[in-house]
Amino acid sequence: MNSPSQPVQAPTLRPLARGEAPGKIILFGEHAVVYGRPAIAAPVQQVRARAEIWSANSCIVDAVDLNRQLAVAQAPAEDPLALIVRLTCERLQRPLPPWRIRVTSAIPLAAGLGSGAAISTAVVRAMLAGFNEQLENADVSALVYEVEKIHHGAPSGIDNTVVAYEQPVWFVRGQQPQPFAMAHPLHWLIADTGVVSPTRIAVGDVRRAWQQNPTRLEALFDAAGDIARQARTAIETGDATVLGSLMDENQRLLMEMGVSSPELERLIQAARDAGALGAKLSGAGRGGNMIALVQKDDVGRIRQALLAAGAVRVIATVAS
Ligand code: PMV
Repeated sequence: MNSPSQPVQAPTLRPLARGEAPGKIILFGEHAVVYGRPAIAAPVQQVRARAEIWSANSCIVDAVDLNRQLAVAQAPAEDPLALIVRLTCERLQRPLPPWRIRVTSAIPLAAGLGSGAAISTAVVRAMLAGFNEQLENADVSALVYEVEKIHHGAPSGIDNTVVAYEQPVWFVRGQQPQPFAMAHPLHWLIADTGVVSPTRIAVGDVRRAWQQNPTRLEALFDAAGDIARQARTAIETGDATVLGSLMDENQRLLMEMGVSSPELERLIQAARDAGALGAKLSGAGRGGNMIALVQKDDVGRIRQALLAAGAVRVIATVAS
């Protein structure tokens, strides 16, 4: 029995295990990367997806933000949340566990910030912790890639790679990704147009343009690949000025590929006018987010300019 001097402790409720994953931005080479050219992406630690494992009677995924609960054993084969749970169990040769997997995410959906890959990765990481197992980043990325195929059709694999490695990566489709370090921290602003843009639509339109005029599109992809190569050198030597103009050049190519939009152009112009070193769309385009490379002291001013130009959300991040 508790004596009057000993307060009764409420039982602390804690999940059995947890997993997390960051959002991501593509710095250089989106779309061209689908056609074998190199691209560079970096994690965005400020927005994350989280998964918690709680004891339950059967295996349930509780997607809190989507207001969805699903029983994994009964869910359709192509349900992304059920699929990542099943694939993880298969990979670890485990039966479906009696867990409630509670998923939350601060990453905006369909905005080029890798929310799908981050949610899947958080689930895999939580399940690994729950089973007390480990997998290499490359194996986590491969599991998540299977789910990305449902979201995007034939994705290059860059999203799952950067999210699973949680490091800036140099990515060429079909090759071992190369995580790398930046010479100096670089400051980025990520501004959301508020226009929802499913990746598979923009990717499909670029494919049709390529089928109609392969010579023109291949030349644009080659130019984007060259820019990515120069950008890697600029990142490794810490030359932010060169990097900014490479972003502007990459944006011109993306416009020619047909994936920019008036909303993106407005934000990109506002960032440049306010003193950004460079600006471009990031991800599939048509909507979603743009990114601006900025000097540390300019973060506040350029953020205000982006909001004044209609951005619905601006995230400041530092990639290092
Ligand atoms: O998922 P998003 O919107 O960041 O776009 C992915 C990047 C693309 O190059 C357009 C497609 C791909 O599979 O790499």
